[in-house]
Amino acid sequence: MNRSIVTGGAGFIGSSLVRALLAAGHRVDVIDNLSTGKLDNLEEVADQITVYEYDLCDYQRIAPVIAGAQRVFHLGAIPSVPKSILDPVPSHNSNINGTFNVFRASAEGKVGRVVYAASSSAYGDTEVLPKVETMTPRPKSPYAVQKLLGEYYASVFADCFDLETVSLRFFNVFGPRQDPTSPYSGVLSVFITCALENRSPTIFGDGKQSRDFTYVEDVVGLLMKAADAPASVVSGKVYNAGNGGRFTLNETWELLQQIAGVKLAAKYAAPRAGDVKDSQADTTAAQRDLGHAPHFTFEQGLRRTLEWYRA
Ligand code: UD1
Repeated sequence: MNRSIVTGGAGFIGSSLVRALLAAGHRVDVIDNLSTGKLDNLEEVADQITVYEYDLCDYQRIAPVIAGAQRVFHLGAIPSVPKSILDPVPSHNSNINGTFNVFRASAEGKVGRVVYAASSSAYGDTEVLPKVETMTPRPKSPYAVQKLLGEYYASVFADCFDLETVSLRFFNVFGPRQDPTSPYSGVLSVFITCALENRSPTIFGDGKQSRDFTYVEDVVGLLMKAADAPASVVSGKVYNAGNGGRFTLNETWELLQQIAGVKLAAKYAAPRAGDVKDSQADTTAAQRDLGHAPHFTFEQGLRRTLEWYRA
């Protein structure tokens, strides 16, 4: 049976991937230190998987779990731009040292392929949109640097250690199970909770910054495709994992109010340090090499996510 490892499998994207892998007949092992992930996210599939509550910095513990797996999906990270500025040491350790450990354990353990969750934050502010993989990265935050370094390691492990790797630059993923309760929560989980609780959200900056919000199921589909695409085409490479669209935060709050049937003026606060102005994926390479074909428009994803939070 195919054995897949999902690091960060108790997180919101990881737990969706776990479900998709199980549905495709894979055996799934999760490595997650539960720093931001939650076992609740895996509740109804708990008896079909094994969860190892290990930290990715603990090489001696994670290496035997990873050894011999057919696929490793490396999603485990401390995923936040502001957190990487306010508290850089844990995010450095987790996102750089933990990531190195995953690649090292995968190479030594003869894993078939590692699919790495990189980030659109690597682009920083570019003059041209949409953002293409061939652009020179201009990271603006420790988080962006850390995620970019993981891509470089992915490519070097492919070249020097004979490990198949693919990096996917996630573009602001949203959907069910995204945790809205932390100060570092993704903006849509916060906005949706505000709409449902009849509270005004706070927009950092003028709200004209834009994001390519990508529904989690589309990212999960792409992760699976990246695991199966021919190595001669994709190994060692980096692909955008985005929807290809772009909405400002002001437009996003407007749309959400319409869908949720509320009318609440947003509050505005100072812009966040390290924030990228605009983000939008060029999906040409992912379409060509991975067969990427997003199924959900932003509005469709938003409606589904709202329904989930409502329930
Ligand atoms: C960045 C990355 C994304 C990555 C994520 C990990 C970019 C373009 N994207 O997301 O790929 O997965 O880090 O955390 O770099 N905001 C508000 N009010 C709130 C919360 C946020 O206005 O209550 C604003 C932020 O200032 C930002 C936007 O909403 O401008 C999106 O923020 P967030 O959801 O945290 O994601 P990014 O930092 O863009």
